[in-house]
Amino acid sequence: MRRVATLYRTTVGKKVLMAASGLVLFGFVFVHMLGNLKMLAPRAEDGSYAMDVYAEFLRDVGYPLVPHEGVLWLTRLVLLAAVAVHIVSAFQLWKKSREARSGSYGKETNLSLSYASRTMRWGGVILLLFIVYHILHFTTGDLHSSFEYGAVHQNYVNAFQNPLVYGFYFLAQSALAFHLYHGVWSFFQTLGLNHPKYNPLRRPFAAGFALVVFVGFLTPATLVLAGVLT
Ligand code: HEM
Repeated sequence: MRRVATLYRTTVGKKVLMAASGLVLFGFVFVHMLGNLKMLAPRAEDGSYAMDVYAEFLRDVGYPLVPHEGVLWLTRLVLLAAVAVHIVSAFQLWKKSREARSGSYGKETNLSLSYASRTMRWGGVILLLFIVYHILHFTTGDLHSSFEYGAVHQNYVNAFQNPLVYGFYFLAQSALAFHLYHGVWSFFQTLGLNHPKYNPLRRPFAAGFALVVFVGFLTPATLVLAGVLT
């Protein structure tokens, strides 16, 4: 336990926590993006939507072994913990780097605190605001008078018919794409996955992943806006 606490106090320890919580969040985002592609499935013969069936499955997965929504709540707790760890470690790393910069090499280190890492902070704040809005929007339904609990497909269509909602999601997904791009790249760095042969592949790989998530999330939303998906 003491060793874990000591490791946590080091910059490397915080970076490892940042990477581990980032991986959990990344995994969630990726699976969420795949889940949203259910919007593209044709309506079943009984009139049900694949998205609604999938959402119901998420609420009842594991039942009766676990209570209704048991796995869902466990996932929410894990995500909340991962977000908290990610933000606290980011804040502490920022504080440490600021303390280091107030030393005699101030200017030089300041330059190496790159455009990317500053954008990561702003991107992170935007994503946090987005998540709060998004939960009020699609989970609690507090933002749309037409919201209906469980009618996920219809709620989705109602939302993205509005260009303002689409525009807001587009911006948030752009912030996410950038965050993932830099995040995936830093992840390799933190794990020390350093090999001259593979290093040139890290950036294209990170960019590819970010792009897949971006396109995957925005495709059904764009089809709704275009009036193709109803
Ligand atoms: C175009 C992008 C996105 C769309 C259209 C979208 C859509 C949705 C919908 C319809 C639900 C509700 C599902 C249900 O009622 O069962 C949902 C849940 C959720 N989304 Fe998204 N999502 C998007 C992006 C994201 C991103 C980028 C994140 C996180 C960074 C995120 C985090 C969540 C969370 C945490 C929940 C579950 C809330 C809960 O039930 O506790 N979403 N999303």
